[in-house]
Amino acid sequence: MNYQFPSDFFFGVSNAANQVEDNLEDNWLRFSRQNKLRCFQDVPAKSDRIRFWSEPQVELDLAQDLGVQVFRLSLAWERLVPRKGEWSEEAAQRYVEILRDIKSRGMKVMLTLFHHSIPTWMEDEGGWVHSTSVDDFKFFSQKSLEHFGELVDFWITLNEPVPWSYLTYQEGLFPPGKKGSLLSHFRALKHMAQSHNDFFTMVKKIKGAPVGIAHHMGLHQGRGFFNHWFSKLSDYLAHWQFLDRIDHHMDFFGINYYGAEWMTPAGPAQYEDLDFSDAGRAICPIGLYKLLHRIHQKFPELPIIITENGVGDGTDQVRPAYLMEHLMAVLEAIKDKIPVIGYVHWTLSDNLEWSDGYGPKFGLVEVERANQLKRRPRESYLLYQGIIKLKGFSTELRKEAWETYKSIQGKTRPYWRSADGKQGLDQALQRKTPENQDWRFPRN
Ligand code: BGC
Repeated sequence: MNYQFPSDFFFGVSNAANQVEDNLEDNWLRFSRQNKLRCFQDVPAKSDRIRFWSEPQVELDLAQDLGVQVFRLSLAWERLVPRKGEWSEEAAQRYVEILRDIKSRGMKVMLTLFHHSIPTWMEDEGGWVHSTSVDDFKFFSQKSLEHFGELVDFWITLNEPVPWSYLTYQEGLFPPGKKGSLLSHFRALKHMAQSHNDFFTMVKKIKGAPVGIAHHMGLHQGRGFFNHWFSKLSDYLAHWQFLDRIDHHMDFFGINYYGAEWMTPAGPAQYEDLDFSDAGRAICPIGLYKLLHRIHQKFPELPIIITENGVGDGTDQVRPAYLMEHLMAVLEAIKDKIPVIGYVHWTLSDNLEWSDGYGPKFGLVEVERANQLKRRPRESYLLYQGIIKLKGFSTELRKEAWETYKSIQGKTRPYWRSADGKQGLDQALQRKTPENQDWRFPRN
């Protein structure tokens, strides 16, 4: 084996409740019914998502066959706390069954409390912007700790608080869909940070499982003098400012990494000479390596987990190289003595991609929505399975994946983003895969 991971390194897959669970009356469904989520319309079985609530075994069988050691999932807050201050024992019981099932298959549980969705009653009270959100989260998280604590191996309090709050309260792309103000965004972040810290303290008191967050980080860069300096500012605001608030309140650091953000004051640019995932993220494995170094410098005592990494790619011609080049970045960081202890891929099966609807396909497994959600494992499912089994891969396999990617250069493939990069689409555009682009690690 040419590229080998340490024997105690773990691999995983991740999903989130509101992207995969059926029978869920949440703020995303409400948003779509209000006609505010164009690309969530006219989709067969749209409110079934992928039926992870009523048929979790379909996904768990796939995860078990894949051989992952960790299964990351989240709780639907709306379901567990259907009204303010009211806990649903029935929903909690069902989650206990699902978590037990995961454990009985020999996988560890990584459980996220908040992943891109709040209850509708909370949204109507002002969501995370309102100071009562801190108590609302305390109620939800304390009850979750009591009910699920024994079954959890890793707690994640918040998934990507910064982009979520920005897209919700500033851009209005996420429910409730009101364009807000930066002030609301910063107020929301203050309440989220406090909530994270409270939960951390709560878990320490009972000596529970390790607690961290899943922090979204992209490699912020800028073309030209102005954008270059602007990207330094956006890097600080998007990444480090929030972390200062939760310093000393993490047992591990979780990074969600998808690629580079080419910053301009109008938002990330989409340059034609660079390649992007079908969800509009610039592919850049070296960015992960660079960020791992910076995280380690800031928190030298913390183990790091890649809590998400993956690519929107319905063709599955990009994913094999994407996967391996990012794993190369992780391996190189480990060689540099950075304590990266695990890699969790986003995601197992195609699911609801938030404001992008069912357009972008992030799954190792394809889901035929018009055919009773039938699953079809993609080639990269088998590839990841092999990597997990051997805890590594060969140069030949890496080369093969790159050849596959090269074969689509110069050809078009589906792209689910509007020209300004902000909106999801009902119908994919076709975008040319740039020729002669070499984003293999360690280039770029
Ligand atoms: C989110 C996931 C999402 C993924 C792919 C992350 O930002 O945590 O929920 O599906 O990216 O876009």
